[in-house]
Amino acid sequence: MIRKKICVANWKMNKNFIESNDFLKKITQKDLSSNSCELVICPSYDSLFLFNKLNPQLSLGAQDVSYLNSPSSTGEISVDMLTSHNCKYVIIGHSERRESLNETNESVSLKMKEIYNSQIIPILCIGEKLDEKLGKLTYKVLEKQITKAFSKINFKSEKDVLIAYEPVWAIGTGQAAGHNEIKQNMKLIKKIINNIYTNNCNIYLLYGGSVNENNASEIINIDNVDGFLIGSASLEVNSFYKIFKQL
Ligand code: 13P
Repeated sequence: MIRKKICVANWKMNKNFIESNDFLKKITQKDLSSNSCELVICPSYDSLFLFNKLNPQLSLGAQDVSYLNSPSSTGEISVDMLTSHNCKYVIIGHSERRESLNETNESVSLKMKEIYNSQIIPILCIGEKLDEKLGKLTYKVLEKQITKAFSKINFKSEKDVLIAYEPVWAIGTGQAAGHNEIKQNMKLIKKIINNIYTNNCNIYLLYGGSVNENNASEIINIDNVDGFLIGSASLEVNSFYKIFKQL
């Protein structure tokens, strides 16, 4: 089955619920109907509730989830809680969490296990740092991140998983990866996925890292790119909408 392109806003720690509400009011005044692209917003946890009553043209995602399944886990948010907010997606393993919050390939694999058996679709973030790219370690890094993330699950053919390839050096820098580099690394990711799957689930690949309204149409046409994970250009209604309209 051909899936729609997917345009995901990762708002990170931006927008309190008043600002989120303001964005939602503005974007829902626009024509969000599309046969070719699904729009997804991942706000902070405190704004999730705003989406419960929203129109079906906007899907909801969370930015993280706990792998602990004991209620004695102060400050954590469970898969069940996200499900009760009608979250369709959840981001795991974002490089900012890997970098600043001790997210490891092991903790990502525990999160993947929790999500995989729920209704929620994981958005697994992977990507190499600049020194890894320069040291020609990109394949090794991506292989480890992917293999480890799926190491605790039993594949199901009906399950969707999104993998967001976000080169760390391209995030928030205004400098997206180049056409050939994205093409080559998406191909590597496909190869890694094919190597580890015996029973395929449905994998779709997103690109993230300085996507904006000027480079979106070129990047979306690169082989194997099924959509975007967007940070700063998703914070402003008009720029996010302009990207969506190109998909
Ligand atoms: P930017 O689009 O701001 O580079 O952020 C990308 C990102 O980290 C999305 O998860």
